[in-house]
Amino acid sequence: MPTENIYILGIESSCDDTAASVIHNGTILSNVIASQKIHEEYGGVVPELASRAHQQNIVPVVNQAIKKANIDKEQLHAIAFTRGPGLMGSLLVGTSFAKSLALGLDIPLIDVNHMQAHILAHFINEEGFKKPPFPFLAMTISGGHTQIVKVSNYFEMEIIGETIDDAVGEAYDKSGKILGLGYPAGPEIDKRAQLGNPKAFKFTKPKVNGLNFSFSGLKTAILYFIQRESKTNPNFINENINDICASIQYTIIGILIDKIKLASNQTGIKHIAIGGGVSANSGIRQALKTGETKFGWTTYLPKFEFTTDNAAMIAIVGYLKYLESNFSDQNVTASARLKI
Ligand code: KG4
Ligand code: ZN
Repeated sequence: MPTENIYILGIESSCDDTAASVIHNGTILSNVIASQKIHEEYGGVVPELASRAHQQNIVPVVNQAIKKANIDKEQLHAIAFTRGPGLMGSLLVGTSFAKSLALGLDIPLIDVNHMQAHILAHFINEEGFKKPPFPFLAMTISGGHTQIVKVSNYFEMEIIGETIDDAVGEAYDKSGKILGLGYPAGPEIDKRAQLGNPKAFKFTKPKVNGLNFSFSGLKTAILYFIQRESKTNPNFINENINDICASIQYTIIGILIDKIKLASNQTGIKHIAIGGGVSANSGIRQALKTGETKFGWTTYLPKFEFTTDNAAMIAIVGYLKYLESNFSDQNVTASARLKI
């Protein structure tokens, strides 16, 4: 098995992005994503439509990734793919495609856990980005997950806190729906939050013991608040949209920072990384940076293109597993609820 000059193809299809990436050793050569616009008009991902779109996109996306990397597919050493967690129909497309391609090229197949990949994206070689030393704490914040993970080594991870209901990205998206914003609403709320007053409206933080999170109460509180205010002023949302967004963002960031602070105090670990779609958020990035001077943390913020779902993060895990000869066999199946 060669260990130098390794080319790995990563394939991601867990939700509504069809993505492929080629990595050479630890450096990304291509990172192609076809995002599915179709879900916007439904205000959320429609699983049936997502799997169909993956089926349409996967061949062109993989071809483009190989072409952009300027290699021939025969140069690939292994195929890495997202096994789970995610939507079963979506995962099946990537899994079946990866298995066939590995079989056709007669090279190893490597299954990847999507949530591990959001964390291990920090190990992609990128100028200006430092890699976290072990052990570190990773907060994975996305549309499907909210977890605090103690990372002792590449594949030695322990979830020490997670949401008991909605994920933080869901809190953003559901709040956006109440406000009449498009899907996904996270980026728009973030943009507007930067123009508003974070203390204009007060939403109470949920009381959840330990390192777990809860976001469903916040969504309900926002709904009742908007209904109440709109009764006396039908134009309330329009007139206050930036302040409302800033206040929602302030509350969410407060919840996240409180828990990561507690996790850091409990474990004594001061290296803190974030990953997942919500790690693109300007508020959480700023709050973590402030924590560097306030709490003595060293923080690790991913490059924007590696925050939301992408295949570069799948390719880096593929590379790390390749170095350990950690391969899957052709019997491997997609797993919608795969755990870290
Ligand atoms: O990781 P991701 O692409 O997909 C999942 O695995 O869920 O995350 C998507 C989530 C969506 O809920 C989206 O609203 C949120 O990430 N998001 C943001 C921002 N950019 C994306 N939330 C807050 N602020 C942002 N800037
Ligand atoms: Zn994700």
